Amino acid sequence: MAPLRIGIAGAGFAGRFHHRNLRGLAAVTAGITSARPESRNAFAAQYNVPAFESVEAMLPHIDVLDICTPPSSHLAYIRAAARAGRHVIVEKPFTGFFGSPEKHSKEEMLAAVTADLRSVRDLIASSGILFGYAENWIYAPSIQREREILESSKGQILRMTAEESHSGSHSPVYGIWSEQGGGSMIGKGCHPLGGVLYLKRKEGLARAGRPIRPMAISARTHSITKLPSFEDRGYLRADYKDTEDYALLHVTFEDGMVADVITSELALGGIYDYVDVFANNHRARCHLNPVHVVDLYSPNRKEMEGLDLVEKISSNEGWIPAYPEFGWSSGQLHEMRDFVESFAAGRHAECDLDLAIDITLTIYAGYVSADRKGAETGIPRL
Ligand SMILES: NC(=O)c1ccc[n+]([C@@H]2O[C@H](COP(=O)([O-])OP(=O)(O)OC[C@H]3O[C@@H](n4cnc5c(N)ncnc54)[C@H](O)[C@@H]3O)[C@@H](O)[C@H]2O)c1
Repeated sequence: MAPLRIGIAGAGFAGRFHHRNLRGLAAVTAGITSARPESRNAFAAQYNVPAFESVEAMLPHIDVLDICTPPSSHLAYIRAAARAGRHVIVEKPFTGFFGSPEKHSKEEMLAAVTADLRSVRDLIASSGILFGYAENWIYAPSIQREREILESSKGQILRMTAEESHSGSHSPVYGIWSEQGGGSMIGKGCHPLGGVLYLKRKEGLARAGRPIRPMAISARTHSITKLPSFEDRGYLRADYKDTEDYALLHVTFEDGMVADVITSELALGGIYDYVDVFANNHRARCHLNPVHVVDLYSPNRKEMEGLDLVEKISSNEGWIPAYPEFGWSSGQLHEMRDFVESFAAGRHAECDLDLAIDITLTIYAGYVSADRKGAETGIPRL
């Protein structure tokens, strides 16, 4: 069978690791496009890939559009791909509300996002394209191990705690609601939330043949780096325009069980990612970052230049819990295999549209709740 032709939109950080992680798979990067000619031309030259001026110009030359652009452009590109009959991979967060938080209430945002999700779900269904949501946590080896344990032992999850935090995104447009659709709750919280929603879905399918879905959320958001009492020592990013840098999400599932998710821009020492599962027949601590596979001692950071040792660690000196390979413990290395194999087999990816929709609705119900200082808020169904 001819290799799947993948066209990547977005020649930045995510576009590059998507391309690299196709190696060894029955797929080729058949095109690159981005808003800036310099970035797509640099990518094209570095990886010997044809560059296109726009997604529309690239679509006739590919089988799959892989969307690695900022979140505000995701839905328009999904729609363009679906209309052209091309399969879709899309980076996190799936989508959001990209207006000003000063002009729109959180209820308006939730209503608009719900309507968008309904229309894109219907378009994907009617066009018959295949879909994969690039939530890498679903493909993390520790989360996949826990899925297997749940399915095999028919365990019931009673509660989970999960977190993604680090010292702040590299993107200059992070921290601007109209570009990102929110702050920590969506930008980072989508990862651990994706992990806990996925595991509860899998538990339901294993025990009763249907997913257990999130019902309600109580959430709080804070802007810690904006507080007059915050002392900025220069180690944390602290220039967020109109978004939160801390969020706490308490999710209640259909069966009454719960998950607590923390997410923030306030963690030094490298990216901090885990899911802790408390089940009726086991405990599992799923470590995504740090992981101690290769404990590396480096006396001088210059010796380690150019190596992706640990994401968001501020110094490559001293003892470092180094990745065996970038994306190994957090799933980016494994997700592309599932997309390529699923699409070649004519099925949606393991990380599918239903999960992408539930994550997005939970987050925007969370923003409504946070606006009401944590009042329990129902999560809409499409
Ligand atoms: N899963 C992960 O681990 C992970 C990590 C980083 C980023 N991401 C996600 O990947 C996406 C991109 O993030 P990034 O860090 O690669 O950003 P980036 O700023 O490094 O790169 C973005 C690229 O998109 C291009 N671009 C911007 N707007 C565009 C548009 N409207 N049309 C076409 N091209 C456009 C830019 O020119 C640039 O090439 C975001 O959704 C982000 O949340 C995921």
